[in-house]
Amino acid sequence: MLKRIAVMTSGGDSPGMNAAIRAVVRTAIFENVRVWGINNGYQGMLADDMFEMESRNVSDIIQRGGTFLGTARCPEFETPEGRAQGYEHLAQRGIQGLMVIGGDGSLRGAQKLGQEYGIPIVGLPGTIDNDVWGTDYTIGSDTAANTIIDAINKLRDTASAHRRIAILEVMGHHCGWLAMIAGISGGAEYTLVPEEKYDLDQICQEIHQDYETGKKRYILIVISEGAGSGVDVGKYIEDKTGIETRVSVLGHIQRGGSPSVIDRVKASQLGEQASLALISGLSDIVFGYDRGEVVSIHLEDAVNNKKQLDPEYMRLARVLS
Ligand code: ADP
Ligand code: F6P
Repeated sequence: MLKRIAVMTSGGDSPGMNAAIRAVVRTAIFENVRVWGINNGYQGMLADDMFEMESRNVSDIIQRGGTFLGTARCPEFETPEGRAQGYEHLAQRGIQGLMVIGGDGSLRGAQKLGQEYGIPIVGLPGTIDNDVWGTDYTIGSDTAANTIIDAINKLRDTASAHRRIAILEVMGHHCGWLAMIAGISGGAEYTLVPEEKYDLDQICQEIHQDYETGKKRYILIVISEGAGSGVDVGKYIEDKTGIETRVSVLGHIQRGGSPSVIDRVKASQLGEQASLALISGLSDIVFGYDRGEVVSIHLEDAVNNKKQLDPEYMRLARVLS
């Protein structure tokens, strides 16, 4: 049983991180374990910017997007010297275990810290990308998907009014899950993801024919940022088809917003499970969801494997477009 743990958020923030932090802290306090919050991810760990938390520190945050602890990207932590500095600040407080809420990069950094210093590590998948191997859900992905759908609904109105081609570029880093799920739920004619090659000339030919035959009054294309630039694709299609095309890049709007019910509930469940596991002395595991169940994955597997898109989703997107 550990009696002192720390929790931090790292990398790209995501809606639901606060719900996860709240569950980790409240579970630890319920188990009479002291818990420190590390501000601003690994940057805060290196800067010795951490504080012991009480229950009231996580009041009134479950409904807030982002992360009240702050997050950062910290290249220094990718050096052994940086990790040594960070570990020193944990050791000074007698912290015996670390909870990292972040994407695959943050989890990779945590794995190295654990390997080098033997401190128990438990991870939670906090990223809108839904790109953590072994899981089909990451904290924030549901809220981000709903933000994208809201944008698609609005784009449909104006694209229909003008008989235009609307292209929406969404986030996802190197994973096309956000684009794919938005393409299906938004009814896109084309969904372009990094995991699948696409032929723009073929697409232009089909669009031209669908306009000529009256099959389509307007076209919606969702492209993942990892599959190319929405602006470049839009210019190519407009030049090739002669049809007015407008591009929207949704950007960091996808990262904000009050977390959805799904993100709040799942983040709370994962936070409690992860906190209990860390407190019990377990290490090198990531808690996540897969096919509706809470699962624990070896940290090694989570960081060393690239998540594949579900081919069934890609098939469905093509059939229904
Ligand atoms: P995410 O966790 O959202 O994937 P990043 O990939 O930017 O975000 O990682 C966040 C932080 O995690 C980095 O800024 C760095 O401090 C740390 N990190 C990422 N990869 C490594 C690595 N291979 N070794 C050590 N630290 C890493
Ligand atoms: O990893 C989450 C994410 O939102 C990616 O989808 C995106 O490519 C990246 O972060 C953007 O990073 P930053 O917020 O540092 O610009």
